[in-house]
Formats: sequence, C-alpha cells, structure tokens
Amino acid sequence: MKANDYHVTMDALVSLCKRRGFIFQTSEIYGGINGFWDYGPLGVELKRNIKACWWKSMTQLREDIVGLDSAIIMHPRVWEASGHVGNFKDPMLDCRETKGRYRADQIVVFKHKTDADALMFAFHEGTEPAASLKKAKKLTNGSALMDDYETVALLDIPLDRYSKLVGPDTNEPGTLTEPRAFNLMFKTYVGPVEESSNVAYLRPETAQGIFAQFSNVCSTIRNKVPFGIAQIGKAFRNEINPRNYTFRSREFEQMELEYFIKPGTDAEQHEYWVTERLKWYEKVGLPEGRMHRDIHSAEALAHYASACTDILYDFPFGTQELEGIAARGNFDLTQHQNASGKSMEYFDEETKEHFIPHVVEPSAGVDRIALALLCEAYREEWIPKNGGEVLTAEVGAKRAPEGYEVRTVMRFAPCIAPYKVAVLPLVKNNEELVAKARGLFERLSKRWKCFYDQNGAIGRRYRRQDEIGTPLCVTVDFETIEKDNCVTVRDRDSMEQVRLSIDELDSYISNIVDF
Ligand code: GAP
Repeated sequence: MKANDYHVTMDALVSLCKRRGFIFQTSEIYGGINGFWDYGPLGVELKRNIKACWWKSMTQLREDIVGLDSAIIMHPRVWEASGHVGNFKDPMLDCRETKGRYRADQIVVFKHKTDADALMFAFHEGTEPAASLKKAKKLTNGSALMDDYETVALLDIPLDRYSKLVGPDTNEPGTLTEPRAFNLMFKTYVGPVEESSNVAYLRPETAQGIFAQFSNVCSTIRNKVPFGIAQIGKAFRNEINPRNYTFRSREFEQMELEYFIKPGTDAEQHEYWVTERLKWYEKVGLPEGRMHRDIHSAEALAHYASACTDILYDFPFGTQELEGIAARGNFDLTQHQNASGKSMEYFDEETKEHFIPHVVEPSAGVDRIALALLCEAYREEWIPKNGGEVLTAEVGAKRAPEGYEVRTVMRFAPCIAPYKVAVLPLVKNNEELVAKARGLFERLSKRWKCFYDQNGAIGRRYRRQDEIGTPLCVTVDFETIEKDNCVTVRDRDSMEQVRLSIDELDSYISNIVDF
C-alpha cells in the first residue's frame, strides 16, 4: 500500500469532514484563520478516542507510567533552558513581488547543471520534475532540456545567485529575499503591561512541562527507573506555512511520553518504544503497509541525541511524520538543573548511585493521527442492488455502474470510531417497540457513545451510520418485543447481520469496540 493506492482524494475527504461534522475551518463566518481548525461533533469524539486509547495504553495498562497535566504558559526561563528561545527557528523567505512567504527548507531549486548564468527556478518541495521543466521552458523560450537541469535545496544556493532565481509563484527573477531565522513560538504578555519583562510563550511542545516537574513527580510516585511521565495537551507553533489541511497547524495537540531510563540502556529502550508505538498504530487502524520508520543518520542527530526514528504514514499528499521517537540522553534534565539550580538527580536505592536519568521520548501529534485515520477509513463502495460482490468505487467516479449503488463508509477501527453503536427501532410508529429501543439506547449509552435514529427507511439509516463510521447497528423489531428479546446486530464493514439476545449484547459489543 502506498499514498497512491488510496480510494480517496483530499477534496472528497475534506468535503465529508465538513458535511458530517468532523472538521471545520475555525471562525469560518469571518473567513477563517490560516493554520487553525475546529473539530465538530464527530471530530471531537474521534480525537477524544485517539487520546483515550493512547492514555490507556500508556498509563492504565502499565504500572511504570504516570500522567501529568502541566500549564500551557510556563516560566519563560523554561524555554531559555530548553533551547527553544535560541534555536526553535525555521528559515523563512519572502517574495517581494507576490508577498508570498515560504519556509526556505521546503523550497527546492531547478537549476542548470553547468551554466552559472542561467535562470534558476524555485519550487515547493515535491513538485514533479515535469512541472519544473514546463516553467523553465516557458521562461527560456523553450531552450531548457531535462538532462541539463538538476534539483537542489534552496538553502544550498549562494545568496549572490539570488538575482537569477525565479520565485515559486512569479515569473520574475530576483524577487526572493534572503532566508532569515524566524522563531516559531507564539509570544504573549503575562499581566496588564506589555513590556519585555512580562513576555511569556505559548508552549511549542508539552515535553518541557514534564521535565520541569520531574523532581516533584519523582518524589510523589517513588517509581524506580525506568519509569515514564505522559502528557496530552495543546501546543502552539507559529508555522510559516501551515498546509495539507490539519497536517501542519499552528495550534495542535501532542501526546508525549518521557520515559526515564538508566544511562547506557538508551539503544534498547529506543528500539523497544519504536516497536511498541508501531503496535499501537496498528491497533487503532493504521495498517503496517502504510507505516514507515525514518531512522535518522548519526550526522542528522542533535549533539545530545543517540537515536531518533520518525514514524511516517503514507498520506494521499505524500509520506509524512506522525510521531518522532528520540533518545535524548539527559540533555533536558541537565539544562533545567543548570538553569534552575535545582537538582534533577535520581537516587538508585539498589546501587546507591546518584545520576541524572536519560530519556526516550515518543512524541505524537493527535491531529496528524486523526487525519491519517480519516484518510485510511474513507471508502466509496459500489453495492450490488440484487446481491453479488461489493466493488471498490473508482476514485472520483461520479456514479455507480448500472445495478449498483454507492456507499460511502468510514472503516474506522471500532475503538476510535466516534459512535460505537446505533440503536434503531425498525419502525417509529409502534410505542412498545420505540420504548424498547429507547430503553436499550439509554442502557448502552451509560457505557459507550451511542446514536439513536428512528427516522427513515432502515437501509437509509444504515447508510447514515456507515458514513460516520459507526461499527455496529442494533435493530429492535417486532420479534424483539413479541417473541425472543433478541435484536439484529449489523456489522458496518461486512454488512452481515447476526441475531443476538439482548442479554448477550454488552459483552458482544465490548469485544468489538473496547481498546
Ligand atoms: N517534544 C518533541 C517534539 O515536539 P516534534 O517532532 O517537533 O517533536 C512531535 O513534534 C509531533 O507533534 C510531530 O510528530 C507531529 O505529529 C506533531 N506536530 C508537530 N508540529 C505540528 C504542527 N505544526 N501541526 C500538527 N502537528 C504537529
């Protein structure tokens, strides 16, 4: 499976997300604001389920990890010590003509291999060579030939050659400014006076809240190393170029674990966490075939890190990072110890040693996982009207072939589906039947997020649930009340139905939907 094996386009997905209430542009009534998104009634459930599955896997199913919920605004010295004030920067450049703003490390240049005076063409990373050549031909009166050109990083182009460089959105050379560093942290002021002594930052990651509370947590839980502290929460980055729907946003949520370990166990613990996290992704519905490990080379690592592996997923717009797992040594705790003057040492009762623990940090983005799950779940199928094989619809096909109807279905893993069960009375004009269905709905709702729907033909109600990804539909019919106290349970993916006693329902549902 690869990005291009999808049966969905981003346009179709974005349209479903808006239509069914997964994701809305924030403050849309005022024209929106780039890089910020709202999650609608279904999106919020999806995100809560992703966070609940992570939290359960980290803090409930293991004894060695505890949780934390630290403040979004912390003492500004936290960000000085962590290096974010000095180093959390991206190179940015502008086009004087179009006023476009670009991240310099996301721009590539299509340049002549030998002729230093030839025009060069800047493009967004990922642009097909054929598209680059088309523009080069247009601006060189057709003389550009593919074999004469190569693609290089913009940051490798010397500044004295910028006069020959044509910007991504213009046909004029010499309009791009030189790249300059731009700090991604959002600044604010604490208190009524906007002066430099009151500057504070919205956190760009949740991790530093964990490091800053390391000693307090250590002394309250008295766990032995190795142990972890997990946190889920909002993070903010003033991204130069938010893009790919919610993938790169300016406000997003992270799920971060700092797993504190004995120095020297870094490599084995790092490998362990990469494997654990990949198992988790499979469990929430991202198949192995679309997941990748990007293992950073020794040269690409920060000076304090001994390993870093990014977990990538094949999105329809390319293979991109969902999570980074880094072995960061004891850099962060040491930085905070030096800056605050407070000891970050751990005392090992067994060996009677004092040391600053090393850390392995799996750091995942909730919004990126939600987007990956939405992409993965989306299917359009052609259902035969008179029995036969279900077909996968062609991408972009407007209508089904003769004898078939279209079904849009979100094949979420049940544990992350927004609604777990829909309860449907077969008809709405029979009081006893409706009362039975309502009673069942209220009972199941105590345990799971359920949907009650009595309007329309049963087939149409099934389709509505398919489109929002509800794994199970439970139909209450006349036999339920008159005969056997059984209900029909329909599976979203196979569309098969089984007849079950209401008494068996809870354990049947639990086996399917609980993480
Ligand atoms: N504490 C380490 C850290 O923050 P990171 O690679 O910068 O590492 C971790 O971020 C994860 O947070 C990423 O893998 C991604 O899932 C998510 N993330 C980072 N920037 C994001 C953005 N602008 N929009 C959405 N998610 C983002």
